[in-house]
Amino acid sequence: MPIEDAQRWDQRYSSDKRFEEKGGPHPFLVENAYYLPTRGLGLDVAMGLGNDSAFLIQRGLRMIGVDISGVAVRRAKAAHPELMAVQADLTRFYLPPERFDVILNFFYLQRDLWPRYVRSLRPGGLLILETLLVDIREMRPDIDPQYLLQPGELAGAFPDLETLTYKEGWSEGAHGHPRPVASLCARKP
Ligand SMILES: C[S@@+](CC[C@H](N)C(=O)[O-])C[C@H]1O[C@@H](n2cnc3c(N)ncnc32)[C@H](O)[C@@H]1O
Repeated sequence: MPIEDAQRWDQRYSSDKRFEEKGGPHPFLVENAYYLPTRGLGLDVAMGLGNDSAFLIQRGLRMIGVDISGVAVRRAKAAHPELMAVQADLTRFYLPPERFDVILNFFYLQRDLWPRYVRSLRPGGLLILETLLVDIREMRPDIDPQYLLQPGELAGAFPDLETLTYKEGWSEGAHGHPRPVASLCARKP
């Protein structure tokens, strides 16, 4: 399955017009910039083209971005040379304990990573996670529900972190289409 995912995403990043342009950081990241540190090490999980990482690099962080798509990794590295861009399968990825000051997870859902995020954050570290709610199936019934959040699920998923911002609802995506998302910014005590 991960190899098929890599091929599918390589194809999208090579030829889908929606991924042609460079783009910018997700609005939820910008909205929560106030909480971000200006130094330290961050991890961008399933970073795609690395635009969220670039935002943190500009703010002074060192960033590691991980993605299974070789095309995404090459494009991200070309656009953002300071990014430590790694092609790897997150279903087999080791996260070291107490290593990261920020973990970003935008539009990628792998629930078994969640407890590892908590362990891998340094005390005071931030988790920023935003992804699709199951309501997207009204418009996109083709998306497998296992990769979609249930309403309220993210709100209760990190009891060991201090929630700074949480919201659920429809918001404008990068390509101008509204989509239902849950968004969390939380800090490790
Ligand atoms: C919807 S995109 C999100 C990209 C980026 N975070 C963003 O929000 O713009 C999902 C990303 O997950 C990556 N991906 C899918 N399965 C993966 C896996 N098993 N390991 C690492 N990356 C994976 C894809 O290559 C793709 O870049």
